[in-house]
Amino acid sequence: MAETPSGKITIPSLRARKAAGPRIVCLTAYDHPTARILDEAGVDLILVGDSLGMVVLGYENTVPVTMDEMVHHTKAVTRAVRRALVVGDMPYFSFHLGDEESIRNASRFLKEAGAAAVKVEGASKKRLKLVAAMVEAEIPVMGHVGLTPQSIHRLGRFKVEGKLAGEARRIADEAAALERAGAFSVVLESVPVEVAAEVTRTVGIPTIGIGAGPACDGQVLVFHDVMGFSTGYAPKFVRRYADVNGIMSAAVRAYAADVREGRFPDDATSYHMKPDAAAEFLPKRGRRLPGRGM
Ligand code: KIV
Repeated sequence: MAETPSGKITIPSLRARKAAGPRIVCLTAYDHPTARILDEAGVDLILVGDSLGMVVLGYENTVPVTMDEMVHHTKAVTRAVRRALVVGDMPYFSFHLGDEESIRNASRFLKEAGAAAVKVEGASKKRLKLVAAMVEAEIPVMGHVGLTPQSIHRLGRFKVEGKLAGEARRIADEAAALERAGAFSVVLESVPVEVAAEVTRTVGIPTIGIGAGPACDGQVLVFHDVMGFSTGYAPKFVRRYADVNGIMSAAVRAYAADVREGRFPDDATSYHMKPDAAAEFLPKRGRRLPGRGM
């Protein structure tokens, strides 16, 4: 099925990309101006990732992120988006206490925040049952296997998953099981090229890679990493397309210098009274000129 006449990306049109291409372009966004830029640039899928916690909210990992924070930021994103499909990321512990509560949380992304789908990390038996229940409740689900950042405390550190044959088989089995459970696509994070290529060849749903090589049906990266707008460590799989840190830092320093030296604001960035109104007003004020000390 082709994209709708308006060009809006839908779940069926994304699924059709698997066979017909072109590759699916996905980036994260957490706010309105960024989402507008992504949407206008033709990004197909916008993921309001729980990477929000590390990238924007300053948490050490994604574990502390709450449903309320995710819904708040997803609302800002969907208000800007006309074409892309917006996916809300289920944060840690929003889908662990039973299907009913998990589905209620997932539905908030659709009902309150205007997203079209949710993403859920992991593919344990319990998780697969939940994915099927969400799909049954008309909530499209994107799976996420390989490195699952919400497991940071169990894993100890972020690392490539699937370098050994047993791990690779597990990841392939999990992706296939997510497809059977009804997921419409699956994120493959930090897995070797060989694993991603085999999963992409064998599942019928689009694979979206992050650190998973070029064979996937689509690619996702964290927006701030791509823009050079994040601090500290960037994984090997990131390609930086801009130096927003540098641009913004130079602009802030220039602004600070202008304020300190009295170069900002100037006449071009100030308002004036109408002359007759100023004449009426200023004598009463002792004709002091506007400026410091008034
Ligand atoms: O939270 C996130 O941004 C993600 C992606 C990078 C896949 O899960």
